[in-house]
Amino acid sequence: MDKQTHFGFKTVDESEKAGKVAEVFHSVAKKYDVMNDLMSGGLHRVWKHFTLNTAGVKPGDKVLDIAGGTGDLSRGWVQRVGKTGEVWLTDINSSMLTVGRDRLLDEGIMLPVALADGEKLPFPDNYFNLVSVAFGLRNMTHKDAALKEMHRVLKPGGKLLVLEFSKVWKPLSPFYDLYSFKALPIMGKLVANDAESYQYLAESIRMHPDQETLKQMMLEAGFGKVDYHNLSAGVVALHKGYKF
Ligand SMILES: C[S@@+](CC[C@H](N)C(=O)[O-])C[C@H]1O[C@@H](n2cnc3c(N)ncnc32)[C@H](O)[C@@H]1O
Repeated sequence: MDKQTHFGFKTVDESEKAGKVAEVFHSVAKKYDVMNDLMSGGLHRVWKHFTLNTAGVKPGDKVLDIAGGTGDLSRGWVQRVGKTGEVWLTDINSSMLTVGRDRLLDEGIMLPVALADGEKLPFPDNYFNLVSVAFGLRNMTHKDAALKEMHRVLKPGGKLLVLEFSKVWKPLSPFYDLYSFKALPIMGKLVANDAESYQYLAESIRMHPDQETLKQMMLEAGFGKVDYHNLSAGVVALHKGYKF
């Protein structure tokens, strides 16, 4: 029998998970940006700004955005690396990537875009100065393999940024649960005609490793040093892993 994993609160065969995640993002792609603003009250923009502004990316750097979706971080990286730098927008999902590519093209931003699985990156060793993955790691089946791949493609001295939902400050969790399990699926139904995908979102957040566990996983994947910063009382955390 196939090894088991979780898809939200459901237990599924490992071989099934990527297909189920793909269904979610094919379904939500067109409404993804408007739902992001609505669900987070615009806070996702603040979290992404913090990520971009504390990354230390310089003109000329090479940056890989994994699970980049509709391209919010990629746009910020392009502005920071300048004409001499290189930014790759990648994602496993063609619908998300198409929305991202078209949106950036409409804004006059041209960059290499590639369909790529974070667990098997089509890039050489020691190539990038910075790798980012925002709200993507949670959806991957083999997070340990993905973190090792991210470590592999970084140059020594390079950095991985993982922006992801995390463990919220305990006193807030009853309110956060109420919001996630009651309000989110209703918003999903009304705006994207898809309650199930937003139920998966709430469940997958609860199943994702907490701050300290993810830090440990990054160390085990080979990063020499890992630190993290809680945002919005731990609703989200930004982990930084340094390749020595
Ligand atoms: C919540 S969206 C995040 C998009 C974007 N990074 C952002 O912050 O707005 C999660 C993305 O992860 C992508 N994804 C899921 N599994 C992946 C994998 N194994 N490799 C690469 N991308 C993956 C999905 O297709 C989706 O576009």
